[in-house]
Amino acid sequence: MARSFLKDTDFTEKEAAEVFALAHRYKKLRSAGRLDVLQGQSWGLIFFKKSTRTRLSFEAGVYELGGHPMVINASDLQLSRGETVEDTAKIMGRFLHGIVIRTFEQEMVEKFAENSGLPVVNALTDLLHPCQSYTDMFTMMEFFSAGEPDVDSLKGKKLAFFGDTACNMAYSLALSGGMFGMEVVLCGPEEFAPQPVLDGLFKEAGISKTFRFTSDPEDAARGADAVYTDVWVSMGKEEEKAERLKIMAPYQVNEKLFGLSGKNSIFMHCLPAHSGEEVSEGVLRSKRSVIFDQAENRLHVQKAILSMLVKKNRGTGGI
Ligand code: CP
Ligand code: NVA
Repeated sequence: MARSFLKDTDFTEKEAAEVFALAHRYKKLRSAGRLDVLQGQSWGLIFFKKSTRTRLSFEAGVYELGGHPMVINASDLQLSRGETVEDTAKIMGRFLHGIVIRTFEQEMVEKFAENSGLPVVNALTDLLHPCQSYTDMFTMMEFFSAGEPDVDSLKGKKLAFFGDTACNMAYSLALSGGMFGMEVVLCGPEEFAPQPVLDGLFKEAGISKTFRFTSDPEDAARGADAVYTDVWVSMGKEEEKAERLKIMAPYQVNEKLFGLSGKNSIFMHCLPAHSGEEVSEGVLRSKRSVIFDQAENRLHVQKAILSMLVKKNRGTGGI
């Protein structure tokens, strides 16, 4: 099976550090023109859910690396008429050089990786969003490092996440933050506390569990270096909207809560944001909000992830 990026821990810490260094180079050199990393390659970008940032950054990214991006709305595939995931993946393996997928179940990205023989990138599942969390680590490094982004600048830094702590972003930030020695505090209502599956992901990867959960927002925010939130109603959870909005209200990141964080702290959000729900308009648009840096960095970090996969799979018959 080719090396894929389905979970934050699919790269070692050393490989991830290499990804970040490459992302920094790509960011500096973007105007130099197209590269040839993916020359002659076609990559399928399959979407079962809506997307703005992920779709645009992968489509531009594959092109900038010299490849051909094929954006596929999952509802246009025979898969939506009952063809199996296994057969779809096998067919794609005969045409493409790599696959990027946004879908619901984590099992589906795993099945694509097992059956296609290609490198597969998780572009968000209900369980994880590792492309976003790697980008967030990179963005924090840019703000915390004195010079070039440095993974050591993350060590011991407090990342406080508020809201639905059983969602893909909370889990991926816990895993990525754990890989780089951050103190990750997940804060939200007990009803949406992290599930045992997250402990399982740490165990499976053999890394120590470095996050903690609290339902006390002041405890979580106090002295934080980065304050992060995500929507209270993730894609696919729309029917729970009314309950979620009510129960998560005390966890809104507003001026009062953000005011408890460190004096040089940054505000982060993967976007899209619902201003007035999980975050106040004032915090979202404040000088310390780095939301657009996060969004831009998706392009640079994902180009580096794709390059790393090409390097790791070279000579294995994968691509
Ligand atoms: N943050 C993120 O993944 O954005 P999109 O849903 O727009 O891709
Ligand atoms: N938790 C959100 C992230 C969107 C980028 C969702 O899954 O909808």
